[in-house]
Amino acid sequence: MSAYITEQHSITMEPVSANQNYFNSPNVSQKHDEQPLHVEMARRIGKALLKAYPFNDEQTIVLDFACGTGLNSRVLASHVKTIIGVDISQEMVDRYNKRVANQGISEEEMRAVCIPGKLLNDTSVDQEEQNLQLKKLLGGVEFDVAICCMSYHHFPSISSATRTLSSLLKPGGYLYVADVESIPAQSSAHESNNTQQSDIDLEPIFPEGACEAGVVMHKYGFSRDVIKGIFIEAGLAEINEETGQVARFGYEIVTRAFKNGKAVNIFLATGVKPFL
Ligand SMILES: C[S@@+](CC[C@H](N)C(=O)[O-])C[C@H]1O[C@@H](n2cnc3c(N)ncnc32)[C@H](O)[C@@H]1O
Repeated sequence: MSAYITEQHSITMEPVSANQNYFNSPNVSQKHDEQPLHVEMARRIGKALLKAYPFNDEQTIVLDFACGTGLNSRVLASHVKTIIGVDISQEMVDRYNKRVANQGISEEEMRAVCIPGKLLNDTSVDQEEQNLQLKKLLGGVEFDVAICCMSYHHFPSISSATRTLSSLLKPGGYLYVADVESIPAQSSAHESNNTQQSDIDLEPIFPEGACEAGVVMHKYGFSRDVIKGIFIEAGLAEINEETGQVARFGYEIVTRAFKNGKAVNIFLATGVKPFL
């Protein structure tokens, strides 16, 4: 049985609750930092981030969205003024904050906030209103940089997550997303439909159990074009009408990993919120 399927999971659970349950289970949250793959991935992505953006320890305010226990935040912490983690799992957030407290770092410099899953699920409230509520929960802080590492594959809607992240950035702010790149031969099928490909002769990058349990929503990873498309839609990149080139968008492969026995690329995509 896959590690993703536990007694707490129901096959029919909606994705945010399924993720909350999964990452709240002590077995998962406690072991997150102990896994060499997670630590090494955070180190490599962090190295690429430090190369990509001129972080300033007196100025830069960073959002680490879907922060988990803070592996990515910790790589950046000494290079930024403030870093705020956000996650839907109270267990992961508690572990993040416990470590911050143990290191004697102040909450002003570094903290994580658990956001109610309901906030992301409430279809009776429109997205702009949800984004405003989230902003309020974060004390109205506007971010120079938002990062989201190895988490997009958990989100039910990457378009909506990207719009939310864009709404939390200052004008001129940068969004960096790192995740698994779909394997090229699978890209066209992947782009046509992210989540329902059971009839296609493809093998998922993530273990089957994770997808059935509603914990992994994008089992084939993402192609560059899909990510570019959602960044454009969220206003974080744009197509130049004359040249056809995409402005304010960056995409690079930062490292490789093994997922479910396959070698996969890990991409780092960048978008920039325009000045008003
Ligand atoms: C694989 S962990 C990655 C954590 C961290 N970024 C890292 O690289 O170590 C995925 C994280 O995404 C969080 N998560 C899952 N779905 C989410 C959602 N819809 N909104 C915010 N966070 C979510 C989980 O609780 C978990 O902490």
